[in-house]
Amino acid sequence: MIPVCEPTLTGKEKEYVDDCLNANWISSGGKYIGLFEQAFADFCGAKYCVSCVNGTAALHLALAAAGVGPGDEVIIPSFAMIAVCNSVIYTGATPVLVDSELDTWNMDPAGVAAAVSDRTRAVITMHTYGHPVDMDPILELAASRGITVIEDSAEAHGAEYKGRRCGSIGAMSAFSFYGNKILTTGEGGAVTTSDPELAERLRSLKNHCFGVPRFVHREIGFNYRMTNIQAAIGLAQVEAAEELVASRRRNAERYNGLLAGVPGVKTPPQASWAKNVYWMYGILLEDDFPLDRGQAMAALRERGVDSRAFFHPMHLQPAYERPMPNRPVVRGPMAAAEELGARGLYLPSSSHLTGEQIEEVAAAVRDIAGQ
Ligand SMILES: Cc1ncc(COP(=O)(O)O)c(C=O)c1O
Repeated sequence: MIPVCEPTLTGKEKEYVDDCLNANWISSGGKYIGLFEQAFADFCGAKYCVSCVNGTAALHLALAAAGVGPGDEVIIPSFAMIAVCNSVIYTGATPVLVDSELDTWNMDPAGVAAAVSDRTRAVITMHTYGHPVDMDPILELAASRGITVIEDSAEAHGAEYKGRRCGSIGAMSAFSFYGNKILTTGEGGAVTTSDPELAERLRSLKNHCFGVPRFVHREIGFNYRMTNIQAAIGLAQVEAAEELVASRRRNAERYNGLLAGVPGVKTPPQASWAKNVYWMYGILLEDDFPLDRGQAMAALRERGVDSRAFFHPMHLQPAYERPMPNRPVVRGPMAAAEELGARGLYLPSSSHLTGEQIEEVAAAVRDIAGQ
């Protein structure tokens, strides 16, 4: 079975982890935290990086640092990973769901404009599967209304919007370093920003807002600290980052070439103003594909190819059906989110896929398409 995604650990990960063990620095102190944070900030083109335990915590920290709380609204795409919506719910604020665009698979800037209210405090722009959101209209609107823009770049390590890397565009940007991400620390996350005050707030919030004296706390923080061991793996990953990103793009080009012209298969978006990093190589199965998505995934599995269905939109999640004070609200139609959620799947996407594996996957897709 060719798996959907595996970590690529071919650099100095083991050497750096051994160094942590030998030095007895295995908790959240130690040199690798600072080294990893600086290297990752540089990679993104941001001034600061604040590491944390995972991408969900990174989103929660960014929202908390922006001062989001009960009574506020946060605009997010309905077609999203559930951590985006849950992180808003954790703050007590209400997620406001907007539809996506079929040509980028990202939140529709016009939908964002239509969803703004006097209570809107933040927007989370999730760069879906590695393709950047069209940020300019959202940044402009947000600046005029005093709204904080938080990128969710969990899936977009190294992706670019008009020459700027994701992670350097919004006021803050959340990252995940889960095992299937382009750069991984096993579990892990970070928030990048170029604002020194926000960086300071993020550092305080992730570490219980220790005060002066130390055990006098003036705010309620969290323990979201990354360990030195995770950061050691992270540093080795950042050292290999340009190559990991380049492999993702090379693999996608190969797939695009091999799947071009297969009836009913829509290959991933690539807007002229963006550089997709193809975290996952997603395809949409259109009406003229002979199988529905479930049948296609089963048929691929029979041919030794693993795949995953796209996200299930937030406005259809059973978890939010129960009564709750800040239940996600829908403003506007959700046709694109539903179409993406129903028709999309992603194919094996590890950075270290070989050309032969990509050919095998593409042959399986063509085979089930009857080509
Ligand atoms: C877009 C997005 N945001 C947030 C997260 C949450 O990150 P984590 O799993 O590290 O908590 C993920 C995924 O895994 C994601 O894909």
